[in-house]
Amino acid sequence: MAVAALSAGDLAALPTETVYGLGGIAAFPGAIERIYQVKGRPANHPVIVHVPDSTSLEFWASSVPATARTLVKVFWPGPLTIVVPKAHGVSDALTASQPTVALRSSSHPLFQEVLRGLVDALGPSVGIAAPSANRFGRVSPTTATGVLDELGQWLTPGVDVILDGGRCDVGVESTIVICGESSVRIARSGGITAEQLGQYVVMDQAGGEEIRVPGGLPAHYRPSAHVVLADRTSLLSIIAIPETTGLIAPADTPTPQDWRRLMAPETAEAYAHDLYAALREADRLGLTTVVAVLPPALGIGIAIRDRLERASRA
Ligand code: TXA
Ligand code: MG
Repeated sequence: MAVAALSAGDLAALPTETVYGLGGIAAFPGAIERIYQVKGRPANHPVIVHVPDSTSLEFWASSVPATARTLVKVFWPGPLTIVVPKAHGVSDALTASQPTVALRSSSHPLFQEVLRGLVDALGPSVGIAAPSANRFGRVSPTTATGVLDELGQWLTPGVDVILDGGRCDVGVESTIVICGESSVRIARSGGITAEQLGQYVVMDQAGGEEIRVPGGLPAHYRPSAHVVLADRTSLLSIIAIPETTGLIAPADTPTPQDWRRLMAPETAEAYAHDLYAALREADRLGLTTVVAVLPPALGIGIAIRDRLERASRA
């Protein structure tokens, strides 16, 4: 069903290993325009093109830096997006008129199945443009129900499709790397950690965890509830109305009396996996405040801290 909808120029929300994406065929201008409309996204925010595998690089990139080749060999399919010089003919609507294009190959079995169907229908150079399936600035969905809650009123029933692939494994978005010939810079932290990347390529430290992509606004990933950051000690001094306050914190953080505990992850991976669902749950419950105790700045903890820091900026 998703293959038919996409081939017809309509949209399909698709599961990936990170978060759900709102997909349209990258070569169809009408589909890309609708993605921007449905998301309420400004035109100067480029989208990621999802491709079947590394053989697609020749269709999308004018040149492939050695670092990109290495990383793709190790981490594709998986939660890594590479930014490379775009091939002639890649539409400005996808790249927001930048000279580069962001490419990723998802490991989700349903996403791969859809791409295989599209390769049969439209040929090997097919790509799916898919930003996260949320309204602009809000929390990315990690379930099909989350997509429906976010975008249901903007999608066309009986035309657009939401493909249910269960809860996403990773829970935060892919890591975006800007690939130079001799080093790479992290533009958005995510599912693949800096430590993992550093085993294969030279990391440009200037990048660090700072987001330099156009979508990397200071305030992003926001639920309706107000997000307040805390640590184990400052938690006790926060003045809040207990009944309308939720807590997101590692398992070893105790819950203040009458606060609603939204999650208690034992590991950073579990924290990432459940984070966006917990923020959505806070809104569903009508909580006005979510207090979050950050995980240590290690591994995927860096991506979690980045998202929560942005969520906390009003
Ligand atoms: O995990 C993910 O990456 C998810 C799933 C659906 O694949 N997608 C996702 O897409 O997070 P989106 O559109 O929500 O975020 C894409 C980010 C934006 O911040 C955008 O600015 C950046 O990628 N981006 C896209 N093209 C770029 C380019 N040519 N140069 C720099 N940044 C780019
Ligand atoms: Mg997004």
